[in-house]
Amino acid sequence: MTERDIVPLLDQLIARINTSGPMPFEEFMEVCLYDLEDGFFATGPLRSTISGDFLTSPEVSSWFGRTLGRFVASEQHRLGRDGFFVADVGAGSGSLLKAVAREIEFGSIDVWAVDRSPAARAALSDQSDWVVGKGIADLPEQVSGVILANELLDNLPTALAVWTGNRWEERFVGIQSGALSLVRVPARTEVSSWSTQFGGIVPDGGMVEVQLAAGDWLRAALGKMRRGSIVIIDYGGTAEELEPRRTRGTLRTYRAHHLGPDPLLEPGKTDITSDVNFSSLMAIAAEAGCTIDLYRQDDFLEVWGLREEIRRLRHQELDLARQGDPIERLKVRSQRIDIEALVHPRGLGDFRVLVLGVA
Ligand SMILES: C[S@@+](CC[C@H](N)C(=O)[O-])C[C@H]1O[C@@H](n2cnc3c(N)ncnc32)[C@H](O)[C@@H]1O
Repeated sequence: MTERDIVPLLDQLIARINTSGPMPFEEFMEVCLYDLEDGFFATGPLRSTISGDFLTSPEVSSWFGRTLGRFVASEQHRLGRDGFFVADVGAGSGSLLKAVAREIEFGSIDVWAVDRSPAARAALSDQSDWVVGKGIADLPEQVSGVILANELLDNLPTALAVWTGNRWEERFVGIQSGALSLVRVPARTEVSSWSTQFGGIVPDGGMVEVQLAAGDWLRAALGKMRRGSIVIIDYGGTAEELEPRRTRGTLRTYRAHHLGPDPLLEPGKTDITSDVNFSSLMAIAAEAGCTIDLYRQDDFLEVWGLREEIRRLRHQELDLARQGDPIERLKVRSQRIDIEALVHPRGLGDFRVLVLGVA
């Protein structure tokens, strides 16, 4: 056993800050989520499942993936069957890809399931016809097809910027009275210019999560694509839509299906996340010459036929009630309720779906 094995992550971070000084928030978040021994996604159960810490749309109902699969099938039809490529980055349990796969035609199709978490990769490896990788860099070059990312970008490390009334400051993670604490430092140039461009109107003392890593991820994904679409689904909104939340910012933690404690309190033991700033992603996509469509999740799923599915299930429920089959009726009802959760206007339906077309 090495010394590292027995030193809790909190103590490791305190020792590191004592030696090297306060660390940028994105470095802190990177360690808390992805440290190979103690990071939240490296330890414990598969986080995006019922026995884990949060439930994502593909885990709520397979109809999320099946409806998205209709979009993927239309791309397959447009781009051609042979050599068609589908990747899910941050694939988690693989539930999204499994559902998408039900809607597409298998020719010489290339399916990639990519995740940074060893627990997720172990789950994904059960599917013998998928190639499993760790990150966007592993995908082949010049693909024609679709790259999906559901609730990935909200987990990429962010810097924290605060507007003081006349300039941007940053919050690094330092130590005060022996505990981790956010400390004020002058903003780095890239952080202040991102905040000015995408922070929107921020009140004095208001906080912006600076998503440079999400932008780097998108550039890397665009770099892989010859033709097709990148579909990014997540909570968040445009810079303008996020403005009302700028007083306190959107940084938060989750654990065991509830909001968790302050991110500094239990490093490695909670998810750390923030709302995705879709304006910053759209700016990168525009620069790359993509077509850009931004939907609410409820609208996107409606366009691809999910309301029809809800109607079909309602009719089935009525038929089963008439036939006097309460058990089957309850099963269908529970399926319908799960599907309705995907389009709930104040829940998953309020997520955004960004579809970027690469000619
Ligand atoms: C919130 S979970 C979402 C999982 C899945 N997409 C779903 O919807 O159920 C985020 C996943 O992204 C993975 N992840 C985080 N950063 C990543 C990266 N840079 N490349 C690939 N996977 C990453 C995490 O390990 C985690 O499994």
